[in-house]
Amino acid sequence: MNALINDIEIIKAKTTKINDVDFDNLTFGKILTDHMLECDFKDGKWQAPKVVPYQPITLDPSAKIFHYGQSVFEGMKAYKDANDTVWLFRPLDNFKRLNISSKRLAIPELPEDYFMNGLKALLKVDSDWIPRNEGSSLYIRPFVFASGKGFHASPADEYKFIIACAPSGSYFSGKVKVLIEEKYSRSANGGVGFAKAGGNYAGQFYPTQLAIEKGYQQVIWTDDNTHEYIEEAGAMNIFIRINDTLITGPTSDRILDGITRKSIIELAQSKGIPVEVRKITVSEVVEAAKNGSLKEMFGAGTAAVVSPISGFGYKNEDYDIPEMEDTYASFLKKHITDIQTNKSEDPFGWRYKV
Ligand code: PLP
Ligand code: COI
Repeated sequence: MNALINDIEIIKAKTTKINDVDFDNLTFGKILTDHMLECDFKDGKWQAPKVVPYQPITLDPSAKIFHYGQSVFEGMKAYKDANDTVWLFRPLDNFKRLNISSKRLAIPELPEDYFMNGLKALLKVDSDWIPRNEGSSLYIRPFVFASGKGFHASPADEYKFIIACAPSGSYFSGKVKVLIEEKYSRSANGGVGFAKAGGNYAGQFYPTQLAIEKGYQQVIWTDDNTHEYIEEAGAMNIFIRINDTLITGPTSDRILDGITRKSIIELAQSKGIPVEVRKITVSEVVEAAKNGSLKEMFGAGTAAVVSPISGFGYKNEDYDIPEMEDTYASFLKKHITDIQTNKSEDPFGWRYKV
């Protein structure tokens, strides 16, 4: 059993890198803040988390993360409002999902207070790093991996939980054109697709590289069995608007249960937008693109926020989605970011004051 953690030890960095950062021109996830949260699992339990200066870590070459890929992560954001109050968005959902992912990868689950109090302590120390500029935020990356040693193909006996943060701007620069995948699969029934497991992303890189070479930015994954159903994109869930109805696929063993996705569904419904959560075939989308009823496609995720898709490729054909004014994507993006950044009421109780 782990003791409840209220006071987190803080070891402050001797210098800061913040003066070198151009907060007006942030890219995504490249600049890391001055501190990180570090917590070790050893002797059968999680040890007290500490905030320490951001620094490289030393691992044994036989650490199981390198050989067997036992690693899971989360993605969250912190926002600063006009009064410098710091906000998170549905952070307990990220905590719960991290443990869901960990369980699937045979990684010991974290106690809630280690995650939440550790995160709050880190955000207090690095609070100057949380951008105020519109469209920017502090991207937060909690992750857990096997640091325990040995080549035996079995779960490690030691793990590290780290939270690192990066002040960030948009994930995509410019319009997103996607390729609907016909050959490769991201996940399969009974697999780890629903988990934020590092290996899910490694497995996507090669097919995504091939798509990039053909002029697309992301792959839209289809089901591994028939490649007929739209699943999700590499780093975001997918929404499709046919006429006035917004459609997204149901979550499953194979699809990440996105926090942005479920928020968008609730938000859209509350604004009177017809939403259908149902399986959607590629042929339905192709047909809608041909007959003009495909009005919008967009991705939704923490990093991507709401990212409009300008067109897609499928079976060597390209389909453009004509630009419209007053899109659902821009309407929903504004509403969700206004809630996240404390610019509007939050009738859903999603915003979390740090
Ligand atoms: N799908 C995948 C594969 C992702 O990596 C992400 C990003 O976290 C999402 C969907 C969106 O999830 P969320 O909205 O919780 O960030
Ligand atoms: C996120 O949106 O937080 C993600 O984890 C996607 C990531 C692969 C950049």
